[in-house]
Amino acid sequence: MKLFNPGGERGSAMSYAALLEKIEIMRSTLRWATRIERPDIEKLLRQANTLRDEVMQLSHKERFVHAVSAGAASGTAPGAEAEPAAEPSTGERRQALLARSFVFEGTFGDNPKLLDALEIAEKAAPTDLPVLVDGESGTGKELMAKVIHANGSRADKPYISVNCGAIPDSLLESELFGHKKGAFTGASNDRKGKFESAHKGTIFLDEIGELPLPGQVKLLRVLQSHEIQRVGSDETISVDARIVAATNKNLRKLIEQGTFREDLFYRLSVIHVTLPPLRDRKDEIPLLIAYYGDESAEALKRRPVVLTPRLRDFLLRYSYPGNIRELRNLMYRLSCLAGETADLSHLPEDIRPALPRNAKAQAAGTPAEVSLAEAKRAASDEAERICLERGLQEVGGTVAELARRWDMNRSHLQILLKKHGLHSKDFRKEH
Ligand SMILES: Nc1ncnc2c1ncn2[C@@H]1O[C@H](COP(=O)(O)OP(=O)(O)O)[C@@H](O)[C@H]1O
Ligand SMILES: [Mg+2]
Repeated sequence: MKLFNPGGERGSAMSYAALLEKIEIMRSTLRWATRIERPDIEKLLRQANTLRDEVMQLSHKERFVHAVSAGAASGTAPGAEAEPAAEPSTGERRQALLARSFVFEGTFGDNPKLLDALEIAEKAAPTDLPVLVDGESGTGKELMAKVIHANGSRADKPYISVNCGAIPDSLLESELFGHKKGAFTGASNDRKGKFESAHKGTIFLDEIGELPLPGQVKLLRVLQSHEIQRVGSDETISVDARIVAATNKNLRKLIEQGTFREDLFYRLSVIHVTLPPLRDRKDEIPLLIAYYGDESAEALKRRPVVLTPRLRDFLLRYSYPGNIRELRNLMYRLSCLAGETADLSHLPEDIRPALPRNAKAQAAGTPAEVSLAEAKRAASDEAERICLERGLQEVGGTVAELARRWDMNRSHLQILLKKHGLHSKDFRKEH
């Protein structure tokens, strides 16, 4: 069986995405082949995996070359093999995505793991390969599915979202594939299912780990045949829907426990993206606080809420089991419940810390049980904020003037103001 001729394509300008797609199709074909002996399958799979790694490496190298030629001022010759190019900074990676017209759909942050995920999404988007997104609840899985849809050729076609955990078993098949009038009690009309609605577009299967085994079998069938049958109908209907699935469960564990089909897992996870929990990207919490502080103020038509130092300190150190969703909701809550200034008392009771036992520490606004490093950082942040406030007062809120006085880059100054939730307009003389 002639599967793939690595030399054959050498001359053509083949995109990485197309090449990857070929390899993945080959791997998938091998997995499902029934008439090849196992040792041959293993051997061919090994070859395919090696090939795939090579492509990944090439693509990685290409990224470096882009980054190096973007910063040509540094004088580094692109492709200089002897000295490997320095890893591009996260800022450069985000800039490079922007320069390639990547659609972020509001995805925010420069964490390396998040950028890894966005770069994979960028490569996967133009293909029709299924993508599996995993990560804890609130890490942005659904947002990532939208990013993949928005960056692909199906962007102007339907995007249909299905929460597999929210549909009762008895309705699942009808919900996904539709039904014919009279197929069951209550089926008073013909009805289109989600797959048909997603024709030519993308279907997002959220909480795929919750899909019961019979539903998994049916889904597998659709993935193999690209055809569906409405419940109660013999007619087969072709559907062309790109699948993005998400889970906060460890599917490999579910496979071991026998509640998730291994073959379905491999079908769905041709491209696998993992999103980092917020506790692994703590450096971004100040920016997220500022971002959602502004967003909630706008939504609630109010001035951005000012955080007391001890509340800010709490928000910076909190573990956020609900990840970005929890942080976002907290900022909306604070914006809604607090007047001008929010304090610990505005936090939901279940996460509100006990007030400091030590009166002195309370006076200083610093909880008693913080490490030396944390206390230092909090003090340094606080000094920075006071300094920025005074500076803005002195220049009547003119950031350009303050940047000139302090001999600072204006955009860096803007970032610092954002970090502290300070708005130059609040310092204008007319106020
Ligand atoms: N990187 C990010 N940048 C900006 N907002 C984000 C990011 N990740 C998640 N969010 C926001 O957090 C909330 C939860 O995201 P969602 O995609 O629903 O998470 P999940 O599906 O993993 O539970 C949404 O409001 C989403 O817009
Ligand atoms: Mg979700």
